[in-house]
Amino acid sequence: MTFATPAGSFQALAPLTLSIPPGRFVSLIGPSGCGKSTVFNIVAGLLRPTAGRVFIDGDDATGTIGRVGYMLQKDLLLPWRTVVDNVILGMEIQGVPLRQARQRALPLLRRYGLGGFEHVHPNALSGGMRQRAALLRTLLFDTDVMLLDEPFGALDAQTKLHMQEWLLQLWSDFAKTVVFVTHDVEEAIYLSDEIYVMATRPGRLVETIPVPIARPRQRRVSLTREFIDIKERCMQLLTAAHNAALEEAA
Ligand SMILES: Nc1ncnc2c1ncn2[C@@H]1O[C@H](COP(=O)(O)OP(=O)(O)OP(=O)(O)O)[C@@H](O)[C@H]1O
Ligand SMILES: [Mg+2]
Repeated sequence: MTFATPAGSFQALAPLTLSIPPGRFVSLIGPSGCGKSTVFNIVAGLLRPTAGRVFIDGDDATGTIGRVGYMLQKDLLLPWRTVVDNVILGMEIQGVPLRQARQRALPLLRRYGLGGFEHVHPNALSGGMRQRAALLRTLLFDTDVMLLDEPFGALDAQTKLHMQEWLLQLWSDFAKTVVFVTHDVEEAIYLSDEIYVMATRPGRLVETIPVPIARPRQRRVSLTREFIDIKERCMQLLTAAHNAALEEAA
């Protein structure tokens, strides 16, 4: 992916290949600016890559919107709509009649911790609840794939742990393929089947790290040798990528 900018052309991403089997939970990690959101924008069809293709379920989906659920880095709940009407936005865009869409969404809101808040506006929700609403909206977009760009980045540590369990529950209930972006290495390991580590300038994939830890996982898994080794490898790669980016900038 190369962007045309006023300062000239800028290569945001070098050629990279990601191949994600259905039903997997994978994470993308890498320093700020390595192109994680750009990869998502390309996969979601919002951005046409300068070269390369996106295949979903074997179909060429390059530049095609509507094939994946996408939760953007900033939770974009519309302040003038109630929680339920925010959650059905994707369905509405897909042409599902309002009443029917609400009927589908309401039990999910109750089941997944937003009962009693269906008809309030987002400003009445806590940070964790807002993220849950945004995630349910992505889920209800009803595609096999969900792209989640740092969904828990702004939450306090305790709420974040809670949301991780909540997301794993959703993932196992709905059998989606999840691609997750985070700056939190432990979060990536705890949640993922596989971690893709990226580096900058140009943004590229440097290593794919499998996480062969059995599920369901206990929190104390983070104290095991296996977990610590994976964490160390991730940290090494991230530190190297970070230092390289600083050197470039200097
Ligand atoms: N529309 C655009 N025009 C020009 N450059 C862009 C555009 N979008 C992104 N970039 C550049 O591409 C690079 C990758 O940006 P991107 O937002 O994908 O990074 P990121 O890995 O998601 O970072 P962060 O972790 O901070 O969210 C950055 O250098 C960014 O400035
Ligand atoms: Mg980003």
